[in-house]
Amino acid sequence: AEDGYDLWLRYRPIPESEAAPYRARIAQLVAPATTPSQQATRDELVRGLGGLLGTPPPLADAAGVEGALIVGTPASSKQIARLGLATKDLGREGYRIRSVEIDGRDATVIAANTDAGAMHGAFHFLRLLQTRQPMASLDIREAPRTQLRMLNHWDNLTRHVERGYAGESIWDWHKLPDYLSPRYTDYARANASIGINATVLNNVNASAQQLTPMYIEKAAALANVFRPYGIRVFLSARFSAPVEIGGLKTADPLDPQVRAWWKAKADDIYKAIPDFGGFLVKANSEGQPGPQDYGRTHADGANMMADAVKPHGGIVIWRAFVYSHETPDDRAKQAYNEFVPLDGKFRGNVMVQVKNGAIDFQPREPFHPLFGAMPKTPLMMEFQITKEYLGFATHLAYLGPMFEETLRADTYARGKGSTVAKVIDGELHRGTLFKSGLTGMAGVANIGSDRNWSGSHFDQANWYVFGRLAWNPELSSRDIAEEWTRMTFSNDAAVVQPIVAMMMGSREAVVDYMTPLGLHHLMGRSHHYGPGPWVEGGPRADWTSVYYHRATKDGIGFDRTTRGSDAVSQYAKPVAAQFDDPAKTPEEFLLWFHHLPWDYTTKSGRTLWDELVVHYSRGVDAVADMRRTWDGLSGKIDPERHAQVATFLSIQQKEAQWWRDASIAYFQTFSQRPLPEGYAPPA
Ligand code: GCU
Repeated sequence: AEDGYDLWLRYRPIPESEAAPYRARIAQLVAPATTPSQQATRDELVRGLGGLLGTPPPLADAAGVEGALIVGTPASSKQIARLGLATKDLGREGYRIRSVEIDGRDATVIAANTDAGAMHGAFHFLRLLQTRQPMASLDIREAPRTQLRMLNHWDNLTRHVERGYAGESIWDWHKLPDYLSPRYTDYARANASIGINATVLNNVNASAQQLTPMYIEKAAALANVFRPYGIRVFLSARFSAPVEIGGLKTADPLDPQVRAWWKAKADDIYKAIPDFGGFLVKANSEGQPGPQDYGRTHADGANMMADAVKPHGGIVIWRAFVYSHETPDDRAKQAYNEFVPLDGKFRGNVMVQVKNGAIDFQPREPFHPLFGAMPKTPLMMEFQITKEYLGFATHLAYLGPMFEETLRADTYARGKGSTVAKVIDGELHRGTLFKSGLTGMAGVANIGSDRNWSGSHFDQANWYVFGRLAWNPELSSRDIAEEWTRMTFSNDAAVVQPIVAMMMGSREAVVDYMTPLGLHHLMGRSHHYGPGPWVEGGPRADWTSVYYHRATKDGIGFDRTTRGSDAVSQYAKPVAAQFDDPAKTPEEFLLWFHHLPWDYTTKSGRTLWDELVVHYSRGVDAVADMRRTWDGLSGKIDPERHAQVATFLSIQQKEAQWWRDASIAYFQTFSQRPLPEGYAPPA
């Protein structure tokens, strides 16, 4: 059944009319399988080529016919060693795919320095077939631009997934470590296929239980499944675990007993999981325990845990998503204020993980001011793949353009061209300021036990694009959308083109009908799904909507300029100067940085009020367009998937309308203005 379980690894047969050139180039498979990883690579090629070509090519020990495909490393294959293709610059995970001649016969070689590199190359090779690329003269060289390409699961031990919209957790803790669901292997295959090489199994709002021997054993069982696929396991660690499961009276990071406890804990974990990656920590944020509970800094806390994993080669990833208990003048400023003074104070095996924007995974945020501002500290990007603030799994929003927008944003930290991507891949500060060379990107997973893994067919694309951009933060989200569409739906241009167009416009549609022109955090309280611009009161000012939009009869928007909260000054000078002036601020960030009167003239010549209404309406119209496009694809896509997407789009249209009407009606109570001509709400 076309239930989406296969993700982008569907391997459906290439039509007979197109298959001949591929069969000619893949007449024999040479894929040594003396290690578990090599075996997994061979299995994938047999499965993939078998599906795509009708039957898998015959296996051989060495290339011996015209059109052999050889995959491996200099250590696994003499033929590959002789070709000398696996060069140093490919690193630990890179690969080459090349058309060559061996003994006078055409062959294709996938060569790497390690089994993991060979596996990545094999998946790339399969992708060439899946997307119908020519095979005759291949010369591909790929190496990842970041070291850690990591999923963060916000999965609880109860199997509830915080901010998960795809069913319960795929980790069946109850049956682990003995029962290993085949799903774990398919999870590893999917991740390996896009270059993801690390996974944090549990929620950042962590349970200390995760670090007890029973759960370490369960995590070790998962690590064993993932290892052949080059994926390492990390765990979220609860800072107060020494008290909760260790029987200590304190979790003070400078207390010798506490330090000894973490060391012993790390030793135990490494006994069970020799290639354990390390800890991810959310501390002193949203009520989580942390070093500040003991008058210590984030650096004290991170360094204590870093010392514990250091002898084993582990790292600590410390999150910068912090904001204090006291109501702040501007929550957007807090992470920067707390972390910039700590630059240079972290151990070499600590990374600081920073959300893409300073508030919280909004449909659109300007890039986080920490990027570029901590030159001595490796910063890890944290994107959210699960769509907490973008309509969960029912609203179609392809996040590629959003990720790309952040990665291409220019921090000006070291002059023009200091993009966020260059902060993340280390290029900006490599060799000069930060020394460890650690780089990486994390994505909060959208994976659950739904048959289609992600809650909707199109949300699979968000997992996919995250992995591809983590591998190379300078790839184009449009190219990735096309690649995914070809693998997931069809290679027919009449399908590819409209789907890619839908995907590329979909996130902007969400921005328009939820939070246009730089508005943010207007979702319903706690659940963050439907509209709630009226949300006020409660325990914290920054857990309301009115805190963020600040609408009055005089105007709307959050003044973060030098005349307001001065958040702009956290950016490098040229950026700060731009954001400080409404006329120079890109209009998509206008109300993020400025409080402006309702009759402020926008770039279109319309008043701010009219422009707001136009954007809300445009968002709704864009969803109607997506529906029409999708309806037009009926018959070109299998009925199962077509029907589900169609239904979800109808939900999205209803709710886009709801967002628009509710938001406009609410803001109109302040603006006291009529809707612009032609923009009456529907009867
Ligand atoms: C958001 C989200 C929380 C999550 C937090 C975090 O605020 O709503 O569920 O715990 O981010 O990133 O730590």
